[in-house]
Amino acid sequence: MKITFHGHACILIEGSRKVIFDPFLNGNPSAVIKADDLSAIDYILVTHDHMDHLGDSEIISKKTGATVVAIHELSVVFQEKGLKSEGMNIGGTIELPGIKVHMVNAVHSGGATGLILELDGKMLYHSGDTALFSDMELYGEFFSIDMAFLPIGDRYTMGPASAARAVELLRVPKVVPIHHSTFPLLTGRPEDFRKLVKTAEVIVLSPGQSCEL
Ligand code: NI
Ligand code: MN
Repeated sequence: MKITFHGHACILIEGSRKVIFDPFLNGNPSAVIKADDLSAIDYILVTHDHMDHLGDSEIISKKTGATVVAIHELSVVFQEKGLKSEGMNIGGTIELPGIKVHMVNAVHSGGATGLILELDGKMLYHSGDTALFSDMELYGEFFSIDMAFLPIGDRYTMGPASAARAVELLRVPKVVPIHHSTFPLLTGRPEDFRKLVKTAEVIVLSPGQSCEL
């Protein structure tokens, strides 16, 4: 499958289904595409109700008919707007055509969650905005995560050092740093993260760049 970073926390996964995490594009100074450039999205996975994650979910869902997966309260808001949305909560798993989604904890404000996507036999963990927390070790043991998307920008989330520790706890072989370089306040640098990670391949993507999994 093809993984494309679209800046900040936005990741597009293209396999047998097209899934986008946290589609913050139109107001995102680092994004090289706009929400309207996306087509044929099947699912939008939103980690939490902060604008830099919720982003253009409504625009994209209206345009493509994509189902938005989010925590219960946020899902109700989407449904009231007439969008297709599946609500869930931390600890739960839902199965939708072609995918499974596990919602896990995140230590942050705004009803934040982490999301683990199963697609085409692979497991991808988008932690959303979070601090380092010890249950990541449990997630590493319980799930077989193939790739993780972890924030390293610091100030509002983990920085490079705590994110490098998270990589160890999660026992994940490949990691893409996110939530960095978008705004001047996000000072965590991918090169520092790369130096600190000893247990996984660090794949640094610029906005618009892709890798294969
Ligand atoms: Ni946030
Ligand atoms: Mn954020």
